[in-house]
Amino acid sequence: MSPSSPIVAIYPGSFDPMTKGHEDIARRTLRVADKLVVAVAYTATQQKRNLFTVEERVGVINEVFASDERVEARAFEGLLVDFARDMGSRLVIRGLRAISDFEYEMQMAQMNQELRPEIETLFFVPEVEYSFLSSSLVRQVASLGGDVSRFVSPPVLSRLKEKLGT
Ligand code: PNS
Repeated sequence: MSPSSPIVAIYPGSFDPMTKGHEDIARRTLRVADKLVVAVAYTATQQKRNLFTVEERVGVINEVFASDERVEARAFEGLLVDFARDMGSRLVIRGLRAISDFEYEMQMAQMNQELRPEIETLFFVPEVEYSFLSSSLVRQVASLGGDVSRFVSPPVLSRLKEKLGT
């Protein structure tokens, strides 16, 4: 956007795996930011059992966005606000699908505000066709042999098939 001060946005999450809903949020972010770092957490706030390793998740996200040099996936450990600072970013992006997301997202945004007031959280709403979509549902449906090809991009689909032996 501005040549003197590029806007770097951080889109954090577990991305286990990245869905088309996540991709939609990433693309919306690029309407307001010059660069997007998709930040894959080693430490999520809610404890989860992951299907893919952090390295696998970073690798596949970089594949999904291989044609867009503005997007880069990286793993991060520790506090998100520290990672954002290290990346020279003051902008954290999250997606809001439904009212059920709201409480958790408010808590995280306000905690991050307490930790580093200079960092803002910006929420994007995904396309309505992705409003029901989540990584956990994709994992569940795929592990039970369901077709998830509408919900994830081809690199993610092939990793799911490899991992689940389907
Ligand atoms: O996609 P998720 O699992 O809802 O993402 C949650 C994530 C990774 C954004 C959140 O757990 C996080 O920011 N973790 C890093 C640790 C941290 O900074 N915690 C304090 C802020 S609440």
